[in-house]
Amino acid sequence: MNANREPDAYHTAVMVDEVVDLLRPAASGTILDGTLGGGGHSEALLERYPECTILGVDRDPEAREEAGRRLERFGNRVRIMGARFDEAARAAGLAGPTLDGALLDLGISSHQIDADRRGFTFREEAPLDMRMEGREGGGPTAANLLNEWEEERISRLLRSYGEEPRSRAIAREIVRRRAQRPLETSEDLAAAMAAVYGRPPLSKEKARVFQALRIEVNDEIGALERALPAIRDALVPGGVFVVIAYHSLEDRPVKRAFREWSRACVCPPEIPICVCRGAPLGTLLTRSVARPSEAEIESNPRARSARLRAWRKAA
Ligand SMILES: C[S@@+](CC[C@H](N)C(=O)[O-])C[C@H]1O[C@@H](n2cnc3c(N)ncnc32)[C@H](O)[C@@H]1O
Repeated sequence: MNANREPDAYHTAVMVDEVVDLLRPAASGTILDGTLGGGGHSEALLERYPECTILGVDRDPEAREEAGRRLERFGNRVRIMGARFDEAARAAGLAGPTLDGALLDLGISSHQIDADRRGFTFREEAPLDMRMEGREGGGPTAANLLNEWEEERISRLLRSYGEEPRSRAIAREIVRRRAQRPLETSEDLAAAMAAVYGRPPLSKEKARVFQALRIEVNDEIGALERALPAIRDALVPGGVFVVIAYHSLEDRPVKRAFREWSRACVCPPEIPICVCRGAPLGTLLTRSVARPSEAEIESNPRARSARLRAWRKAA
């Protein structure tokens, strides 16, 4: 049982038994692990299905290194690549539908959360970086956004990706402070929040604001929205697609896409005769969302917010 697995120092994989069972139709084929992380899900799949091969993708070089070590014993059954999952099929040179299964376990790993120098969560004096690619990625950091964006844009970001009720006041305070000195560390951001709240922000308040920045820095929702149809198209008939999301912003596009692909007709109501595809592209394997068991949450509290959905392409 998943709940009895030993916790992993890098990252404890979530809902492993559910993922492995759902991907059974891919047991003798190629499975894309688009969020390789520490390789926990891939390892379980390789162990349970001795004939499967894994294409493991992660944008974070530290994850690829860790998973490379963990999966080394499986030899050429594993191919590890650095890419974003929305570009995985193209980067791997896959021509047409070739994947028997695919998994996206969204968000960040415990290692990314725990590594202070990456600045993903609030830690005293952690740099406001948050790029999953690390310095290799080269794109803007969280500090760049906070120091360069217009006030209104910062406010909109904190509201839409962090559901932060004081987004306007916090954005104003950030702009006021950066005129004196650019924001550099998590403490600089927490200090701006404290000035607005009139007290130090609570952990959950900091988490909201950090989440908003992380999603933007890594274009997480955009990458997911592009990945869903790209991965669907790369699946063979009968191929299975499993996604684990950790908050509603991630879960919403997955829910919408899997439902829409499972409908026979997607013509607008005003069109009297069906002119669209006329048949579902596949079927939902999870009626509503699947959640981790209480036992798993108890042994791995970070599993608490996981929501799993699965879909199977029409045969
Ligand atoms: C929750 S962890 C996955 C953990 C993994 N399933 C395991 O068993 O260890 C998410 C991983 O996905 C990676 N990631 C997030 N967004 C990505 C994207 N758009 N493309 C590629 N990798 C991504 C992160 O770097 C992180 O390592």
